[in-house]
This record gives sequence, C-alpha cells and structure tokens, in this order.
Amino acid sequence: MVRFKLGVTAFILLAMAGTAMAQDPTLAATPPMGWNSWNHFAGDVNDADVRAAADALVSSGMRDAGYIYVNIDDTWEGDRDAQGNITTNSKFPDMKALADYVHSKGLKLGIYSGPGPKTCAGYPASYGHEEQDAKTYAGWGIDYLKYDLCSYRQILRQEAGKDQEKAFAMEKAAYEKMHQALLATGRPIVYSLCQYGNFDVWKWGADVGGNLWRTTGDINDTYDRMADIGFGQLGLAKYAGPGHWNDPDMLEVGNGGMTADEYRTHMSLWAILAAPLLAGNDLSKMSDETKSILMNKEVIAVDQDRLGKQGDRAYAVGMTEIWVKPLAEGAMAAGLFNRDSVEHTVTLRLRDIGFTDQAKLRDLWKHEDVSANGGSFTATVPPHGVVMLKVSR
Ligand code: GLA
Repeated sequence: MVRFKLGVTAFILLAMAGTAMAQDPTLAATPPMGWNSWNHFAGDVNDADVRAAADALVSSGMRDAGYIYVNIDDTWEGDRDAQGNITTNSKFPDMKALADYVHSKGLKLGIYSGPGPKTCAGYPASYGHEEQDAKTYAGWGIDYLKYDLCSYRQILRQEAGKDQEKAFAMEKAAYEKMHQALLATGRPIVYSLCQYGNFDVWKWGADVGGNLWRTTGDINDTYDRMADIGFGQLGLAKYAGPGHWNDPDMLEVGNGGMTADEYRTHMSLWAILAAPLLAGNDLSKMSDETKSILMNKEVIAVDQDRLGKQGDRAYAVGMTEIWVKPLAEGAMAAGLFNRDSVEHTVTLRLRDIGFTDQAKLRDLWKHEDVSANGGSFTATVPPHGVVMLKVSR
C-alpha cells in the first residue's frame, strides 16, 4: 500500500516535471495561421508594412478566418548595445510599440533570428545571446519566433567538420538552447524551427520544443517548386500532431507567379498536409480571387481540423494523385490533384479510402454537395489543378 502511494506520488511529480519542461500544450494546438513578410517584402520590410499587414488582416476578414500571427522575417535586426542587447534597425523604430499595435488588433506578433552569429541576410543573430534575446523578445511582447540555422552551418563546419554525428548533436543542442531560453521567459512563444529538414528534423523537432519545423529548403512562387515541396511530403504525416507540425514553408498565394488553379492546388495541398498557413503576399493589394483562395473557410477547416492529423497520398495514377486527410467524426478530406499540364479526369473510389457507397460528398471549392455514382466520383481536373472534397459517413 505504502509502495503504491509512493509510486503514485512519484508518478505525479514526474508528470508535473514533464509539464514544466514542455511548451504550453495549447500553443499551436492546430497549425499556426498568419502572415509572414518574407515571400513578398524580403529584405525591404519595415514597420509601416507590418502595420499595414495587420490592418489588412482585420479589414479583409483574414483574422476572423484564423490568420492571427503577423510575422516579421529577416532584416529587422540592429546592432547589439553595450550590454549585448539586440536592437532594431531604422526600419523598425520601436518594436514594443509595434507589438502593442498588432496586439490592439487582436493579432499576435512574430519575429525571426537564428542560432548562428548572423541571419541568412547577414544581420545579427542569437549566437551566445540566446537567453538575453529571448528576454528581449518577451519584453517586447513577441508571440512567435522563427529560428533559422543559416550561419550556424559555419560553426558546425568549424567544430564538427565531417563528423555528422557531432554536427547533429550540436544542431539539436543549438535549438534546445533557444527552447530553454524561451521557456525561461514564462511567455508562451510559438517556436518555429527553420533548418530545412536536416537530420530528419521531424523525428526530433518536438523534443527540442519545436511547434513547427521546416521540412525542406525555401519555396518560391512557381508551380514546379511548390509542387516539388508539397507532393514531396510523403510519409511525414506520423510526425505531426497538435502542438508540433511539419512545415513545408509559407504560402505564395497571391504573389503572381502561379495561376489561380495552381494557387488552389497550393492551398488545398497545404490544408491536407495540416501545414502552417502563413500567407506571404502583399495583403494591402489582394485581388478578390486571392481572397477567395486564402479565405476558403471549408478548406481552412480541413487544415485546422481538431483531430490534428496530417494527410498523405492514398494513390497515384500517372500524373494524378489522390491525397487524403482524416478529419474529426470519421470524415475525410480528399484532394484529387492533376500534376500534368493538360486536363485529366480523376476517379475517387469511395471504398479505396474506407467509405461505403453511401458516403456524402462536398466539393470544397465549388461550395456545393456533389454525389458519387456507383461508389465512384469522377472529376475533370484542370492542368496543375485540384478538386477537393470532404467525404462524410
Ligand atoms: C532562409 C529561410 C527563409 C527566410 C530567409 C531570410 O532562406 O529559409 O524562409 O527566412 O532565410 O533571410
């Protein structure tokens, strides 16, 4: 009896210690949604652009559709002061005031740094200043940190050389260091790992506190790159779940390099992948078509489904692929994708994805119920396009 009680006490203590070590479980319970400055503004982003993005998130309805993080990417950083505190450069005169402004709109503010001495764009990063930087961010009211490997690769080369095991241990330790620094601030800060998928980060990203981790190199605004990344996420589903997500990089929807069908493919695929949805376009100049893609609530609901399961490919026939994502209440999202540059018909057989012929179907881009014929649904899918369905019992 005494032994049993001790056992229970030890269990409770261990469970409490576990809770204290982990990130807040409500943080990124569904894939983070918001906007990031990089894909459109790159190194030109400034305070006014970020305020305009916050304003547009509200006026367009995007905030209410779930896009709540306003993330400043690289190039906000100034020099360190005499005490080693990071400062902002002249493009961002007052980060605390910017955070207050963003918060006043019911939004959250994200920032960017990395474990090396310099960011990818050559600005000061957090090497040797991790705790100090985390405290500075928390003091400003930052809610999200993207932590980009960049120049830490030079340190790995210098200190680990060709020893891959040592390089892996060092990389993990560098991410864990900032994780601990963020925890020590006591402020819930979403932790976004950006090291392009090295060392199969999906297998250990959550152990170093990552709420999301990039699985690949950078996206760009072309169908080929987007499709390579998106359709290349095969087999990663089991590593994602509430609080910890695979990140195939930010959205390019609305940046002008793809057709509307290609952007619908991008949005649909990212939703099926339970990917973070971080818009990367100029929100102050959005066409109605861009808005209709970014704010398709039925597609967003697939991404944000409370089960938190990432989808995967069910099967491929030639250049067409069917990807499915399990949803709450036994439902499933299905994307019928055409990767070819000519139109194709694609047939979804309900039994192949675990449904009976009686399943209910809804077309999430047409926003209408559709029906199967003899247990199959056949769609004509445009070049590089998609037909996206919700299948319910
Ligand atoms: C890397 C990242 C990008 C972006 C730039 C900024 O390339 O992968 O997402 O943050 O750095 O310099």
